[in-house]
Amino acid sequence: MRWANAFVELNKSSHNRRIFDCGRDEPTDFLRTKALRHMQAGISRTMVLPEEGISADSKTGICAYYTITPSLIESADLPQREARKLPRYPIPVFLIAQLAVHCELHGKGLGKVTLYRAVHRLCQISEHLPAYAIVVDALDNAVEGFYAKFGFQFLCVHQNRKRLFLSMKTALELCGFAL
Ligand SMILES: CC(C)(COP(=O)(O)OP(=O)(O)OC[C@H]1O[C@@H](n2cnc3c(N)ncnc32)[C@H](O)[C@@H]1OP(=O)(O)O)[C@@H](O)C(=O)NCCC(=O)NCCS
Repeated sequence: MRWANAFVELNKSSHNRRIFDCGRDEPTDFLRTKALRHMQAGISRTMVLPEEGISADSKTGICAYYTITPSLIESADLPQREARKLPRYPIPVFLIAQLAVHCELHGKGLGKVTLYRAVHRLCQISEHLPAYAIVVDALDNAVEGFYAKFGFQFLCVHQNRKRLFLSMKTALELCGFAL
């Protein structure tokens, strides 16, 4: 599988969702069955990195994808030095709700590229609609290491998963946005 140059919005008529497999049930099923419905409902946006070239049914495979959505966290969940500066009501953040790479492509740096593109996209959005941080709920302890390499830190346990966060300030610095 060779990947194309750019992430584009998931599209039913040009992307073959059914053949995507990242080796984990939840992110695989999400892309196959829920991502489009959630976009149509206006609750999240899924960006995919298509495979280079077009197959016989004129659809392309998907090499990697991420799904983003606005969310809220409790300021009390933040480290005390950060919480101090914030109001006590829920704080707006961006959630990377899903992120996965096709299992044929694992270990080639595409996960890092996908995470960078997701964070970069959220930095662009934050220029119009600010948020305090980017959060992600790690599927398991091993995946936490993948996000930690990018600077994500433990925030709290959310629905039995470790919720990790990267402050928007750090994200903007990492992606070279002017502060
Ligand atoms: C997690 C996932 C996105 C990583 O993608 P990938 O293309 O294999 O990762 P990369 O090759 O870009 O690796 C980037 C770095 O993260 C590390 N890494 C990759 N997967 C890791 C894991 N599961 N745990 C800890 N570190 C990991 C790599 O060793 C590499 O480190 P380096 O930069 O020091 O060499 C991919 O394995 C995947 O899609 N998994 C299934 C879905 C999933 O778990 N998604 C996360 C949902 S929270």
